[in-house]
Amino acid sequence: MPSDNKKSRSGKRWSGRFSEPVAEQVQRYTASVGFDQRLADVDIMGSLAHARMLRAQGIIGRDDLAAIERGMERIRADIAAERFEWSLEHEDVHFNIERRLTELVGEAGKRLHTARSRNDQVATDVRLYVRAAIDELRELLRKLRAALLDLAQAHAATVMPGFTHLQVAQPVTFGHHLLAYFEMLSRDAERLRDCRARVNRLPLGAAALAGTSFPIDRDRVAHELGFEALCENSLDAVSDRDFAIELCACAALVMMHLSRLAEELVLWMSPRYGFIDLPDRFCTGSSIMPQKKNPDVPELARGKTGRVYGDLMALLTLMKGQPLAYNKDNQEDKEPLFDSIDTVRDTLAIFAEMLPGIEVHAEAMQQAAQQGYATATDLADYLVRKGLAFRDAHEAVGQAVRYAAEKGCDLAALSLEELRRFCPLIGPDAAAVLTLSGSLAARSHPGGTAPRQVRSAIARARRRLAAEERRNRAQPRAAKRL
Ligand code: ARG
Repeated sequence: MPSDNKKSRSGKRWSGRFSEPVAEQVQRYTASVGFDQRLADVDIMGSLAHARMLRAQGIIGRDDLAAIERGMERIRADIAAERFEWSLEHEDVHFNIERRLTELVGEAGKRLHTARSRNDQVATDVRLYVRAAIDELRELLRKLRAALLDLAQAHAATVMPGFTHLQVAQPVTFGHHLLAYFEMLSRDAERLRDCRARVNRLPLGAAALAGTSFPIDRDRVAHELGFEALCENSLDAVSDRDFAIELCACAALVMMHLSRLAEELVLWMSPRYGFIDLPDRFCTGSSIMPQKKNPDVPELARGKTGRVYGDLMALLTLMKGQPLAYNKDNQEDKEPLFDSIDTVRDTLAIFAEMLPGIEVHAEAMQQAAQQGYATATDLADYLVRKGLAFRDAHEAVGQAVRYAAEKGCDLAALSLEELRRFCPLIGPDAAAVLTLSGSLAARSHPGGTAPRQVRSAIARARRRLAAEERRNRAQPRAAKRL
């Protein structure tokens, strides 16, 4: 084949081997530039670190490095200003940037890819991107958790019915209920931190799969990019995407928690409950029913949880059949990964904005807690303290509840005589245990719903948040940049 025929027709970096240009249909099918453009910043970061290492190791010249740095600055600025011309012909973000670099600085641009492959390049880019996403998600989680604490503080003593089986079970405080979500989201934040440590390893140096014959310095690149360690095995470095799957698993759990909260917000806002109202700016109306105010934001959060689960399943399935090492399948990791990151980011952000605006109808909560015999367990516990075995106490109170239900009133509305019919151990002091506030105050141990316990749980939670914030601030600067 004459060489001019090989080279310029497709302009592809790998075109020397080919006797005809790639079919247009194939070009479209295999291109990822439409969705991997968002890796441009991390791609440039990675390339610069690689180029500086090549220079430090004497693999490229000083002028080469200067030209690469200059070219990359220009490219970065053009991309930021949306002036950069992305082309499908150049397949992906990596080729697009490299091609432009060579256009801008000539020969030096062609030297950049020494001792590197797109395989270790893309693995590095995705890790840098995921790491930055984790930092952002953790910050959003911190904000949302702080908002939960503020609301919990305001309602540390606001009584509401606690439910099991969606039936009134025992009184709890609204603050205590909110703290349950604080705990869930705190574990999510912890999971993201754990995940970050596994994400934060450098694949560069693995090259295509087996490493490179050049005298590279991987530690130097790792240091510059803020990676805590190297990927130890070159085959593993270019082929596995478990770190991205792990992030999607973390995202799925965050969404699961937010979806449960969303479901409760929807229920509580229904006039049947009437516990809360969401600010108008987070609701929408109906095109036909003028009276409607719908909780669209929580409903959508509940719905979007499904797509995040789908992303996780897509990535798990993407990985499961791949032989070592890199396969083009891995290009498909990006859309689900980005979709999960975007969805969980937007959902966390909107919840953090929405929560402080919630209007709480404490009277409605209190009234609901008064129905459904929420203090029946307190009466049984009272009888146990008087010497009755718990099972017998349970039976006696059960009968009293049945009697009250037939009469259509609450336990507290029964006279002492009526109550004593079910158990003679009941005395005048039983009245106090049947009140909502008595029931709350009685559960006074760490993790319990007594208002004073809720207040100290909030104080502990605030200390945890502050400590996390200090730790995050102490993270190396390079690691935070994106
Ligand atoms: N766009 C590719 C991806 O996302 C880059 C790596 C391509 N490597 C290759 N050997 N074709 O995975």
